[in-house]
Amino acid sequence: SKPIVLVTRQLPSQAQARLESLSDELTIRQHKSTSPISRQDLLDGIKGADGLICLLSEKIDSELLEAAGPRLKVVSTVSVGYDHVDTAALKAHGTRLGYTPDVLTDATADTTVLLALMASRLAKRSLEIVTSGTGGGFSLSTGLGTQFTKKTLGIVGFGRIGAATTQRLMPFGFSRVLYTASRAHPERAQPFKAEHVSLPTLLAHSDLVCICCPLNQQTEGMFDAKAFAAMKPSAILVNTARGAIVNQDDLLAALDRGELAHAALDVTVPEPLPKGHPLVRHPNCTILPHIGSATEETRNAMGNMAITNMMAGVFAEQMTAEVEL
Ligand code: GLV
Ligand code: GLV
Repeated sequence: SKPIVLVTRQLPSQAQARLESLSDELTIRQHKSTSPISRQDLLDGIKGADGLICLLSEKIDSELLEAAGPRLKVVSTVSVGYDHVDTAALKAHGTRLGYTPDVLTDATADTTVLLALMASRLAKRSLEIVTSGTGGGFSLSTGLGTQFTKKTLGIVGFGRIGAATTQRLMPFGFSRVLYTASRAHPERAQPFKAEHVSLPTLLAHSDLVCICCPLNQQTEGMFDAKAFAAMKPSAILVNTARGAIVNQDDLLAALDRGELAHAALDVTVPEPLPKGHPLVRHPNCTILPHIGSATEETRNAMGNMAITNMMAGVFAEQMTAEVEL
């Protein structure tokens, strides 16, 4: 009988068409919706499956692996981050993990630049003035932002996305680049003369701080009261990585105290934040709904890579990108 695969979401159009073309080889169960699958439907749908294509909204833990049973050969996540996956449980179950690095690097770095500019030029304020019709048009001395010329850029996590973000931001005129990472990346850093420093050093000197690291035990809550206290009061923080890297209560307090000028977040806990959440209403906080990789090109490439990884897992072949468990 054909291998069974559960797909937890409607895929972007090209990837969806490719998935459907595989129905001769696979029995496809799909939650064909643009919103998340319920936990119960996930636990029911995974029973007896050989493969799973999932998103970061699905918690992949031992309960799910138990519900799946011994046939589950592969979990293929449509994301570069895999903090939603219990990798130790997967390894113990003998299940492989596919993910989607590289294809989303450019789009995510673009989103970081978008947020950096929105924050530095007070775009939230401007959009609100125009939308509410309370604006007075050109103003010489109000609504003034800041610019990046001769400033210091701080990149937290100097992986592919961190480096692509630096490359995009350099033409804005930064005079110095600092980065933190668990190890130095001399080759990646060389074109920007980026300096590997400690987090306190980065925070003390950077005018724009971009979070580009994965969420893990080391980075969870890394941006807490102590970190915000170490930042320049004029600094901008951009997070396009994972919401849980930032302690949101501490961020709110720090914004109220003026310990940093603006936070621009593509990721929060939870997503979305409830209507009227103090960070949503805060004039010095700009929030986007996790659109880091949300382009036609990138989402189709991610969907395609996830399908390729899933097929490779189901048929015991080499994946395009596999996490070493
Ligand atoms: C999105 O957040 C991803 O990890 O791909
Ligand atoms: C992964 O997190 C990357 O930087 O590509």
